[in-house]
Amino acid sequence: MAFESCLTSPLQSILGFVFFAFTALFFIFSVFGFILRLKPWCSCEVCQSFLTSSWTLRFDNLCDWYSHLLANSPTGTIHVHVLNNVITSNTENVEHMLKTKFHNYPKGKPFSTILGDLLGRGIFNVDGDLWKFQRKMASLELGSFSVRSYAFQIVTTEIQSKLIPLLSDQANSNDLLDLQDVFRRFSFDTICRFSFGLDLGCLNLPLPISEFESAFDLASRLSAERAITASPIVWKIKRFFNLGKEKQLKQAIKSVNDLANEVIKYKRNHQDISSHDDLLSRFMANIDDDEFLRDIVVSFLIAGRDTVASSLTSFFWLLSKNPGVIQSIIKESDQIMGPASKKCPSFDQLRQMHYLQAAVHESLRLFPPVQFDSKFSDADDVLPDGTIVSGGTRVTYHPYAMGRSKSIWGHDFGEFKPGRWLEDGVFKQANPFKYPVFQAGPRVCLGKEIALVEMKTVALL
Ligand code: HEM
Repeated sequence: MAFESCLTSPLQSILGFVFFAFTALFFIFSVFGFILRLKPWCSCEVCQSFLTSSWTLRFDNLCDWYSHLLANSPTGTIHVHVLNNVITSNTENVEHMLKTKFHNYPKGKPFSTILGDLLGRGIFNVDGDLWKFQRKMASLELGSFSVRSYAFQIVTTEIQSKLIPLLSDQANSNDLLDLQDVFRRFSFDTICRFSFGLDLGCLNLPLPISEFESAFDLASRLSAERAITASPIVWKIKRFFNLGKEKQLKQAIKSVNDLANEVIKYKRNHQDISSHDDLLSRFMANIDDDEFLRDIVVSFLIAGRDTVASSLTSFFWLLSKNPGVIQSIIKESDQIMGPASKKCPSFDQLRQMHYLQAAVHESLRLFPPVQFDSKFSDADDVLPDGTIVSGGTRVTYHPYAMGRSKSIWGHDFGEFKPGRWLEDGVFKQANPFKYPVFQAGPRVCLGKEIALVEMKTVALL
């Protein structure tokens, strides 16, 4: 025995050393390769401005700076070398990456690593079969006409039973109200009732913001911040040692997951799962893995909450600055619902309101809730405008910059003009690659119609 252990110990030490040396070398080469690809020495004006943050002297936020750069680029495309990120507002490039060469532009590993802790295997964070499965299941639930009218019923109930009483109470007091917070609670309750058949009652909670809402905000913000760091190595090391923002992120994600787990547990105990009467029931009838179900729940909460809340906030802000648009919305609703009707419109009446539909689209053009969205190229490619994209490059389309592009929307691109969406009073859809607010192509947003119904119904309050 002693003899055997004498022999194995040196062998184990040697093997251990070889393994350690190999891992260390692999790590060093990976870091080196990564740094080489980033070109941290790049001295071009854009990269220097990014690295030194000198762009902040002229612009309030990154999206405005990128919009300025894209507007001044002859092709509508720029390359931030230090981020290995090609950013485009070129309509043909957008169609190329989102549809024509869809398979070459998946979400990719870097994206799923950044958001993996929060979104797990949820629909936003996966490609291939995992995505196809969730897409198919969710399309069955969200795609039909009857579902939109069901969503409409939920929205009107939320508005009448909770939103209007809350706003009326507030109007009678002198307190200030954070409208975005109210819209977040409203969209959270609505998406939970619609997707999971549950009323979380966020609009009933005492203001200000509740614990799990702030956990949601924090988790989304800190996850997104990972994407704008020059090197992922920094956040990965912090995550490993559970330090700083990574520690906060871990705690926030735990709260988010706790809520999602509660939703699943409640559903399991209180519902006949086989009834398939909402999105979660449909998934539960097909999936046993609770962690996967949790990821799906989190994805839908994120999909339906911040996007709608942010759209509503910007829409009301724009309306407050454009009383003429408010008058036109009232005029149209009077024509369709009868003068000064206090009732909520019917689904059919809502569909007849072309001006309102135009106003909502116009607001989303100027303030798209998803301001930019990235994919990672699988193989080397050339975009229609001639930009060379090597495999592994991050390619970003930029709805915010596109919505503010003179070449796309004309000289009055900065103005809030719903009329640009109407032809003889009838709403006309824009080419989705010119207006990729809901993305476009095979991964187009599944909640688009529901979101539009929500926004229009709240506007008619
Ligand atoms: C104004 C509100 C909304 C906007 C602007 C919006 C926009 C988007 C965008 C840009 C994407 C693509 C994201 C990506 O692939 O990275 C997306 C995907 C998606 N959205 Fe929305 N969304 C909105 C509301 C909603 C709502 C209310 C729901 C749920 C009922 C929803 C469900 C989804 C789902 C499931 C996907 C993933 C589609 C896929 O990957 O195949 N969205 N949305």
